[in-house]
Amino acid sequence: MLNIVLFGPPGAGKGTQSTRLLEKYGLVHLSTGDILRAEINAGTVLGLTAKSLIDKGELVPDEVVIGMIDNKISASANKNGFIFDGFPRTTPQAKALDEVLQKKNTGITCMLALEVPEPELIVRLLERGKVSGRADDQDENTVINRIKVYNESTLPLKDFYKAQEKFAAIHGVGTVDAIFESLCEAIDGVKA
Ligand code: AP5
Ligand code: MG
Repeated sequence: MLNIVLFGPPGAGKGTQSTRLLEKYGLVHLSTGDILRAEINAGTVLGLTAKSLIDKGELVPDEVVIGMIDNKISASANKNGFIFDGFPRTTPQAKALDEVLQKKNTGITCMLALEVPEPELIVRLLERGKVSGRADDQDENTVINRIKVYNESTLPLKDFYKAQEKFAAIHGVGTVDAIFESLCEAIDGVKA
């Protein structure tokens, strides 16, 4: 199986590139952000709890997202693999993911980290905020808090995957096509 963690700060292009990668490599897309927004739109209890945290740019509790991912992986048996987008975001999430995959006799193939400077992230997200309807894209302070939470809670995961020799940095500024090429090169290198 090809199991990719597509990593990077808010606005790095994880969602944009996931769409292309899953088509090329026949993978299942697991975005905890998308799943949580679907829960919010469906008005579930989980969605209601998550909304107040997401709208402030804070993380949803680990046990909530780990449960969601576990369910989705179990429901997608016999697939080529997964793209994890926006998950894991904390060390407990990364450890839980390893355990879930181990039970399926598989594991993470690599973490590809999209690197984009902070000012560019802020411009991208506020620009999208004009049309996306995402409350967390509307306000500059919320966008800045999302980046702060990323730097504090999520960035340490680089070292988690570096220690397993699974980490690759990808330059995330440029055209969507050029970045896609770099991601494919990295994936094909690991597969070979
Ligand atoms: P999530 O949905 O994961 O959002 P995020 O990580 O903040 O990132 P985005 O989805 O905004 O950005 P992206 O990297 O996907 O970039 P995109 O392709 O969209 O999480 C949202 C919230 O849910 C979290 O804050 C948290 O509260 C909660 N949550 C989710 N997962 C969680 C977890 N595991 N644990 C706890 N809480 C969790 O691109 C962004 C914009 O840039 C777009 O407009 C795009 O068109 C544009 N763009 C893309 N590529 C380029 C390029 N090359 N050049 C110029 N513009 C570009
Ligand atoms: Mg996204």
